[in-house]
Amino acid sequence: MKSLYAILDIDRKDKKKIDELAKQIDSSTKALNYYNDNHLIPSTKELDKIGEIHNLNPYQIMIEMGIYSQSLKALLSQKGYEISKLLGIQQNIKKKNHKITYETELGKLYQGDCISLMNTIEDSTVDLVFADPPFNLNKLYPSMMDDNISKQDYIKWTESWIDECIRILKPGGSLYIWNLPKWNVYFSEYLSHRLTFRNWISVDMKFSLPISGKLYPSHYSLLYFVKGEKPNSFKPDRMAMETCPHCYKELKDYGGYKSKMNPKGINMGDVWYDIPPVRHSKYKKRVDANELSIKLMDRIIEMSTEEGDLVFDPFGGSGTTYSIAEIKKRKWLGIELGPTDIIIDRLENKIDDQVHLEKVREKYNSLFPEKIKNERIKKGLWTDDSFLCHT
Ligand SMILES: C[S@@+](CC[C@H](N)C(=O)[O-])C[C@H]1O[C@@H](n2cnc3c(N)ncnc32)[C@H](O)[C@@H]1O
Repeated sequence: MKSLYAILDIDRKDKKKIDELAKQIDSSTKALNYYNDNHLIPSTKELDKIGEIHNLNPYQIMIEMGIYSQSLKALLSQKGYEISKLLGIQQNIKKKNHKITYETELGKLYQGDCISLMNTIEDSTVDLVFADPPFNLNKLYPSMMDDNISKQDYIKWTESWIDECIRILKPGGSLYIWNLPKWNVYFSEYLSHRLTFRNWISVDMKFSLPISGKLYPSHYSLLYFVKGEKPNSFKPDRMAMETCPHCYKELKDYGGYKSKMNPKGINMGDVWYDIPPVRHSKYKKRVDANELSIKLMDRIIEMSTEEGDLVFDPFGGSGTTYSIAEIKKRKWLGIELGPTDIIIDRLENKIDDQVHLEKVREKYNSLFPEKIKNERIKKGLWTDDSFLCHT
């Protein structure tokens, strides 16, 4: 996709020409550079004027930039036959670029490119896809992949693996994509035209230093879509009430209808405050990658699959998804572009994750975990038992 200046045949360094164009369209050089550098469409008025000056139809500019408004999409859709003929049919050459490195009774781990592996997976066979791709933040991964590509290339690459994920997903299967909000806004739009939107889950986590002139980025986005109308499996855990770690009183007002509360806990919401970043060396399998929390993966797998279902994660990293799938008796398929020895080691020693997971799960599906309940009883605070006693 071309940049604005490439379409107008303007050199980004040619300040004189840009100044002149800015003057002609009653805009500023700064605004034009901003559109060009961030791959944004100028406002309608500016676009019309640019079109007039350069003898270009504004729609042509949009098409060459690869940015489509609803009205342009409608026009293209009316002319679909002619356009597809004009473009010709491109043969999609699929090269095999993956090999198996480990196998258990439940799963298979590959080393290589996830799209190459997905090309070999049959349509509609996977129950859950969870993807935590690189965020294009110029990080150094052991695979030495380029994590600093252009915005357009990153979106194009993401759409290509999303297409494959959708193809292999069963009807009623769930797809989750973990990314920064700045990327997931694009992918949620793309997915909305292909799957059914369920939730944009905000996972509260400070992931960088405050940025001057911007709100402090403090959540990751977890997109949750389903293929078809509704999920085959949807059983979210119920959460314990939040209580003060010192006085054990509840921290939030849940509406005052205590006796009406479900003793199994509170409905899970779409803002998750309780997912820790994996920093603890005991749980962090490798120092140089974004290993995800076991708690997060457990929640997703529990919510969207049954025992025996097939889970696929195209971006292995340290293998959090595969380890949790293995422990929870789900079938799984995994792949990592870089070395897979860390994942293999983790799967061989899955007892570590299992012990950690058991601790995590002790706190679900009751209003108060055992220890908190006992402390509240000692302090004369209400528990769900107080209501049982009165009935
Ligand atoms: C953010 S990490 C995933 C971390 C993982 N969720 C975990 O908890 O450990 C992304 C991983 O994707 C891998 N990767 C990047 N491109 C890939 C590709 N085309 N195919 C397979 N893996 C890829 C990177 O090497 C990196 O290890």
